[in-house]
Amino acid sequence: MFKTSLAAPAAVAAAAEQAQDRTAPPATAAPVPGRERLLLDFGWRFHFGHAADAAQDFNFRGNFSKTGNFGPVSTLLFDDNDWKPVDLPHDWAIELPFQNDPALSSKGFYPLGRTYPATSIGWYRRVFELPPSDAGKRITLEFDGVYREATVVFNGFYIGRHIGGYDPFSFDATDFASPGGKNVLLVRVDATQSDGWFYEGAGIYRHVWLVKTDPLHVKQWGTFVRAQVRPGEATIQIRTEVENHRQGAAGARVTSTILDAAGKPVGKAATVPASIAAGGERVYEQQMVVKAPALWSLVERNLYRLVTEVEAGGAVTDRYETPFGIRTCSFDAEKGFLLNGKSVKLKGTCNHQDHAGVGAALPDAVQYFRVRKLQEMGCNSLRTSHNPPTPELLNAADELGMLVFDETRMMSSNPEGLSQFENLVRRDRNHPSVFMWSMGNEEGAAGTDKGLLILRSMKAVAARHDGSRLVSMAPNGGNSMGKFGFAACDVQGYNYADPQADAFHKANPKVPVMGTEQVSAVATRGIYTMDPEHGYVGSYDPYTTTGRASCEGWWSFCNARPWLSGGFIWTGFDYRGEPSPYQWPNIGSQYGIIDMCGFPKDSFFYFQAWWGSKPVLHVFPHWNWPGFEGKEIAVWVYSNLDRVELFLNGQSLGAKDMKKDSHLAWNVVYAPGAIEARGFKDGKQVMTTTRETTGPAAKLALTADRQEVSADGEDVAMFAVEVRDAQGRPVPIADNQVSFRVSGQGKTIGVGNGDPTSHEPDTGSSRKAFSGLCMVLVQSTKAAGSITVEATSPGLTSAGVTISSKAVKLRPQAAVWERAVPAGEGFTGLWRPAGGASQVFTFEQRGNSLTGTVEGGGAFGGGGETPIAIADGKVDGAAISFSAANVSYTGTLKGDAIELQRTGGGFPGGRGGRGAPAEPAGPRPAIGPPPDGTDPSRGIGGGRGPQTPAPTVLRRVKR
Ligand code: GAL
Repeated sequence: MFKTSLAAPAAVAAAAEQAQDRTAPPATAAPVPGRERLLLDFGWRFHFGHAADAAQDFNFRGNFSKTGNFGPVSTLLFDDNDWKPVDLPHDWAIELPFQNDPALSSKGFYPLGRTYPATSIGWYRRVFELPPSDAGKRITLEFDGVYREATVVFNGFYIGRHIGGYDPFSFDATDFASPGGKNVLLVRVDATQSDGWFYEGAGIYRHVWLVKTDPLHVKQWGTFVRAQVRPGEATIQIRTEVENHRQGAAGARVTSTILDAAGKPVGKAATVPASIAAGGERVYEQQMVVKAPALWSLVERNLYRLVTEVEAGGAVTDRYETPFGIRTCSFDAEKGFLLNGKSVKLKGTCNHQDHAGVGAALPDAVQYFRVRKLQEMGCNSLRTSHNPPTPELLNAADELGMLVFDETRMMSSNPEGLSQFENLVRRDRNHPSVFMWSMGNEEGAAGTDKGLLILRSMKAVAARHDGSRLVSMAPNGGNSMGKFGFAACDVQGYNYADPQADAFHKANPKVPVMGTEQVSAVATRGIYTMDPEHGYVGSYDPYTTTGRASCEGWWSFCNARPWLSGGFIWTGFDYRGEPSPYQWPNIGSQYGIIDMCGFPKDSFFYFQAWWGSKPVLHVFPHWNWPGFEGKEIAVWVYSNLDRVELFLNGQSLGAKDMKKDSHLAWNVVYAPGAIEARGFKDGKQVMTTTRETTGPAAKLALTADRQEVSADGEDVAMFAVEVRDAQGRPVPIADNQVSFRVSGQGKTIGVGNGDPTSHEPDTGSSRKAFSGLCMVLVQSTKAAGSITVEATSPGLTSAGVTISSKAVKLRPQAAVWERAVPAGEGFTGLWRPAGGASQVFTFEQRGNSLTGTVEGGGAFGGGGETPIAIADGKVDGAAISFSAANVSYTGTLKGDAIELQRTGGGFPGGRGGRGAPAEPAGPRPAIGPPPDGTDPSRGIGGGRGPQTPAPTVLRRVKR
């Protein structure tokens, strides 16, 4: 393939020539064929395969011997009636029962890996139609991420494999597509191997897209917008990569239009046409100035859109949109991180992609929910530890105002490592939220000479495809800061080692420093004692267990040092796997400041107080301590007010001044009643927070995080249950079993309660409350209306909430194809041979007449891939007869099955599909062929005439 490298003279010439050609495309331009990017999430079928037994793995072995012949499972007629209907994103791991196997600890005790071959391979099938008008278009299949090895087969053709659970990948499927017909996409997913040391899910857990383009089009991630901001204006440099898949050369020009948030054009430029060879690509460089740009910031998330039009021969062949923002990001050794020239302390959290109810398969709405939740605690940045994120997380960050330290998975300059990093950079380089690239985490090799070479090679990739952002990575500790591979980092990171960071800064005052991973404190939401039996950790901040800093220890250190750019707490949300400090029955981590559901732990309020700006007054623990009467309980207050006075049952326990970035504590002799904190600002009492001893659980309260969702089959609302006493007070120790019933235009997609030890399934419709709370995640259907959730629990007053689901234009998506199932009397319906032969009989009975089709079975079964109409169809009580092509059938209904006898049409020819040979003319010799030379294999054993095939048993099926 001809390629023009980025700096090739042709490209530079094109850039120079593009001049300020601001003419609009000719008015006579053909209608824009543009591109279609269709979501391919709905209507998949899923079945487990087997990692150790081909027979249970749809005969996956040696399927690569002939192109286009992958096997029955890849064909349209394959019987997938026992495959489970699923929509993407899908994570099969969370549906598996926990196994108490220490080898599974880091992955959350889900049975995945070599020793669990029956649950480590998943097969996915999806049939879709392409209209005849797609002939001549490029057809590409894009996968945002599959865990972990994907083998992709399209219409029986093996089209590629991808290894790596987080890296997006795509295949050009044009040559294998059937425009005007049905297309079968098959994906075998192998999750036996791991990428990380934490829960990672299994399956197609991100979106899949069907992309159709003209052969002359913008390459995938082929636009790059870079803004240079000066007072009052910004110079926008645009790089566009165009591919030509036409048979001949194309003279293509690129027109770039910048639209502001309101859709108003604020800049436009067109290049002169430049030739792109057949099968080649060209890079176009353009530049324009936007006056008085609206900068992107954490507060004002101003987004622009670049509209790229590729034009050849007077026709626009592609229209490609790139959202972007105009902002500057830089680091200063003295002032830390600067956004648009102003110091912004990075108040960050590290997060894995894992949430209650859905595992790694987060619907987009859950990404947005999580970003909002992090913002509620004052968090302004996140690190996508330890892998490339789902693209929609970056959309959420752009739109909601969150900075992202974007991390690759494999720190390596091997082809896989470089390609993963290149994909990350190319995919994410236009997101204003992404402020720096992370080349890895705690890689021992980074601290060696080889590490320096590896990281330099990686850095070169970032420079080549971006060049506007700095690079860094997260070292294990801080001793290696600035040394070996870390010398390649523009900003020195460190994990946890605050004292070493201090020492490094003293020795290297000109090098910017940013914390890459901090704190690692553990806490179980609503629990205040250490409970190894249940795997619970008390929520007082000093319980770091890992010997690392507490929340307060780290933040007070960080905030006192202006040169320190900030840091990223391990972690924002709890996640499955890596249980610490306890193991089984604990199945998840407890590092989160927020639990798996999104319920805040106490330290959330510490950060809300010192990271946020609104007044905070949070008191803990709860005040339900039967049996602790007369004993001392530590009462802590997180607040950003000046002074707090604590009361027990109306009696003052004294007032204390709040120190910046700190907390207050009293030891209180427990007596049931109320513990009350009164907060003062400038000498005035401004807030009060009370925790009361409650009565027993009496009722449920239910709240939804959204009052309205979109009726698109994707949107999600979170319904939280709080167990309350008769007076309506939250019961913080309640663990009642709660059941959910969802009616109207929504469905349950998962449940959770934040208990890191719960072994209840996330995919059920019932969950115990944990520390008084649990949650159900409800997804809209595609029909507008209302969604009602009812929560019930034995002995408690139930609760219900109704939200609305509003009609929206669905985003472009591939229609779900299902075989039509005729309804009616008797034999009417779909039938398939028992035993898995790829044949479908569609019958429609009207009185004594039978019509329908036969598909499959080759010429000898009466039908091919295209349905053959049946003729002379008759029904006589339990008997049927009909013919299809040259085959006649008679059948008898026996219970739920039809015993079908085929006559005529010869015999299946086996390999090569030869037709039935003629009967020999004369007597057959005992050895050798008959005198007329006909096939000696006919009638062996003295038989004469055609053999009657054994009857086929048909069973009624749904598809
Ligand atoms: C870090 C590591 C994280 C996580 C954490 C647990 O060293 O980077 O991925 O394992 O420890 O404390």
